[in-house]
Amino acid sequence: MIYSVADAADLPPGTMMHVELDGRMIALYNYDGDFYATDDICTHRRARLSDGYLDGRTVQCPLHFGKFDIITGEPQNPPCKVPVATYPVILDIERLLIDVPESGQTEN
Ligand code: FES
Repeated sequence: MIYSVADAADLPPGTMMHVELDGRMIALYNYDGDFYATDDICTHRRARLSDGYLDGRTVQCPLHFGKFDIITGEPQNPPCKVPVATYPVILDIERLLIDVPESGQTEN
């Protein structure tokens, strides 16, 4: 299902934001002008990745400092071992659209 979630102008390069879609927490990122999305909840515990730190294509969790690649969702260091789900982001003129599977289905 495709959701319109934000204006691209509200997400400058090097920043991230939290959005909620039908109760699902998503983190949106702008990496060098390209847009990416992952689940916003760290796979280690229940911290929000969008409250952490974005460095290039890596997001660092604010709780125990685990890192994930925002493009692949793969964990980059302990204590994170399980990837975060990633979602396609489409730039439609000025709006960012996210393609999120129906509940119960996960990308990756
Ligand atoms: Fe994210 Fe522990 S909750 S690294």
